[in-house]
Amino acid sequence: MRYGYFDDNNREYVITRPDTPLPWINYLGCQEYFGIVSNTAGGYSFFRDARLRRLTRYRYNNVPFDLGGRYIYLRDDESGAYWSPSWQPTRHDAERYSCRHGMGYSVIGSTYQGIRAETCYFVPLNARLEVWRVTITNERLKRAAVSAFSLVEFCLWDAQDDATNFQRNFSIGQVELDDGVIYHKTEYRERRDHFAWFACSGELAGFDTQREAFLGPWRGWDKPVVVEQGRSANSMAHGWAPIGSHHVRMLLEPGETRQLVFVLGYHENPTDSKFDPPGSQIVNKKLVKPAIARYRDLECVDASFAALRAYWDETLGICQVATPDVHTDRMVNVWNAYQCMATFNMSRSASFYESGIGRGLGFRDSNQDLLGFVHMVPARARERILDLAATQLPSGGAYHQYQPLTKRGNNDVGSNFNDDPHWLILGVAAYLKETGDWSILDEPVPYDNQPGSEETLYGHLLRSFQYTLDRLGPHGLPLIGRADWNDCLNLNCFSDTPGQSFQTTTNKEGKTAESIFIGGLFVLAGKELAAIAQRRGHTSEAASYEVASRAMEETVRAHGWDGEWFVRAYDDFGNKVGSRECAEGKIYIEPQGFCVLAGIGLEDGIARKALNSVRRHLATPHGIVLQQPAYSQYYIHLGEISSYPPGYKENAGIFCHNNPWVIIAEAMLGNGDAAHDYYTRINPSAREPISDVHRCEPYVYAQMIAGRDAPTHGEAKNSWLTGTAAWNFYAITQWILGIRPEYEGLRIEPVIPERWTGFTATRRFRGVTYKIRVERAGPGNTVALSVDGKTIEGRVVTPPANGKAEITVDVRLGGAGA
Ligand code: BGC
Ligand code: NOJ
Repeated sequence: MRYGYFDDNNREYVITRPDTPLPWINYLGCQEYFGIVSNTAGGYSFFRDARLRRLTRYRYNNVPFDLGGRYIYLRDDESGAYWSPSWQPTRHDAERYSCRHGMGYSVIGSTYQGIRAETCYFVPLNARLEVWRVTITNERLKRAAVSAFSLVEFCLWDAQDDATNFQRNFSIGQVELDDGVIYHKTEYRERRDHFAWFACSGELAGFDTQREAFLGPWRGWDKPVVVEQGRSANSMAHGWAPIGSHHVRMLLEPGETRQLVFVLGYHENPTDSKFDPPGSQIVNKKLVKPAIARYRDLECVDASFAALRAYWDETLGICQVATPDVHTDRMVNVWNAYQCMATFNMSRSASFYESGIGRGLGFRDSNQDLLGFVHMVPARARERILDLAATQLPSGGAYHQYQPLTKRGNNDVGSNFNDDPHWLILGVAAYLKETGDWSILDEPVPYDNQPGSEETLYGHLLRSFQYTLDRLGPHGLPLIGRADWNDCLNLNCFSDTPGQSFQTTTNKEGKTAESIFIGGLFVLAGKELAAIAQRRGHTSEAASYEVASRAMEETVRAHGWDGEWFVRAYDDFGNKVGSRECAEGKIYIEPQGFCVLAGIGLEDGIARKALNSVRRHLATPHGIVLQQPAYSQYYIHLGEISSYPPGYKENAGIFCHNNPWVIIAEAMLGNGDAAHDYYTRINPSAREPISDVHRCEPYVYAQMIAGRDAPTHGEAKNSWLTGTAAWNFYAITQWILGIRPEYEGLRIEPVIPERWTGFTATRRFRGVTYKIRVERAGPGNTVALSVDGKTIEGRVVTPPANGKAEITVDVRLGGAGA
């Protein structure tokens, strides 16, 4: 069953009923000012950091689930009827409800008693504010007197403190009203230099800034007394809960349409001119007034919306494909790329499943996110790499997370996740391959942000690699530390205390438990590092990384091969995890995918064997589960993985993030049918017809789909912020469609399904547009290339020397030849 449809031409998903199984959300903003908006206008906004600069309040895990947001209430001033065009919070039986989630905007509206209203929410480019453009049409045959009320509830900045420290917070709320603009200035009197403002383009009939005055005693958002009575209370907040609400009255002739704009913004003043007049306690508004004036103007709002759309046309235009499969096209051309922008910006911090409070940017996560983002805005990828590297520790290890506002490593979580440093090597490699910008390697970058400790980024990569060589276990495999990619395989934790963090508690010395997954990762990182060193002219260094990588490959073969598949790890007792010797958790997906991806066993058939085992033991119609058999009980020596009920999350859920590793592995072995089949099983667009089973948004990947051991097999959770986005984009574009940036140029090596007769693609790469036409000449994956009509040797197209801005690449795929 579906709850809407894809409007591919407009790059929108159109939700046609408000009662989706879960809130289906979108992100507003892609630079500094961000918001989450659900299909019923729920959600919240923040500036840069979802925890430390939260602008509006949101109560998680509410009842109903999604309550509180950017609400408009309309009231028929003759009958007294009132409703919200976004359905929530009044939940009236509106007609023609729709929510169009697009690229950086959402348009939500409905019709009630002949009044059509819809609101376009978006964050303009290069602005620290969000716009709500409300369009109201009187579809009645007679004149209508309509009141509109806006509503936001302000958050007192630190979302964690806001939700817990009421003994203080109920007394500190402060606002100002000036020229109809509501200024939220809690704590501005003391150490803050920032405030929020909420403005309206229309003439005000009234306003409110105190929540209880707006709602009335013992009322909720669905029945504000002010809306019911059609009259604002003109309240000023002193403590308690500051809100922003404007009231505008309109007389609409039959057929008449009126637009109103509400703007919520964030502003920082220089510390020495916070007040105006100086010495007073009044917020200095001089610097923010121009922005307020600009965005209260409807023409300016229209122009900034057009600019946002143009930005996304341009950004998505970097990689566009036309294949025989609509689900592939939709994800590659629109939604998967768009999700990669969200994961780049948010890491795993703010979604409907991530509270924005718990986590900053993850080192491992953000490096992997680059794989799907770097082609879109390379300059921001460059900055991110340097920020991440600056949180690396002198040991080569890294803080597991850092706060985006301060860019400092998060001490609460600390380090010792022994896979972390290698992702930096892979992230940098992806950047170099996309951009050819080798200068990044010479950038001086500190360790742990300590001035004076700077070393080149290249030096950081060497320490990343060395980190593992300094931490080898009894079999010569990498020690796992707190955890590797699988945060829930906690082999040194041994936790028997409720509430203890599985990730940061380590009750064992950590000198025994080893990870075959990190082994594979090290082999791959070693190859990349060797390739980088070679190109920088460090030939003997390059050789040593190759040797180390090869030696690890041998160790993995000797101690990490179980006969039919790769072992997952050795535990603290030196016993195997993910082996036929185990009673449960005999086979894990991660080492099968990643060891093959690292090139282990391609020649002698063990890679094929491992992938066959994946097919036999782990593949389900809804995707590939993480391990089998699921753990039926808690095992203290395995940690959080066995804390989950079978089939959920890391305990044998379909952890979508690592499905693309198997997809890539199948493509590497030339099996396009299998690769694309696995790709399709978790492709959200392909799952749209079973939205009632899948339940999460059909336009973005979820972190997890319940596995075959779960009572709700096929049900997705934790949508949006997942490494699945980057890895699937990378898998489909670079390995199945085979358009793969390499150090020397663009490799074109498709491994597509046999039944596909070909596809076309446009890819901008290092300033040149490649028009690629692939035609299948027969079965198989042989490739013969010609560039602008001339046959070329090999499969890598080097950037044209003649300054051409566009080239045509014809690819003859399969059949006899090359
Ligand atoms: C989740 C993991 C996550 C970890 C760290 C665990 O509870 O299952 O997916 O990576 O927490 O936040
Ligand atoms: C989510 C985390 O963000 C990611 O870093 C980790 O690899 C996966 N969970 C698997 O545990």
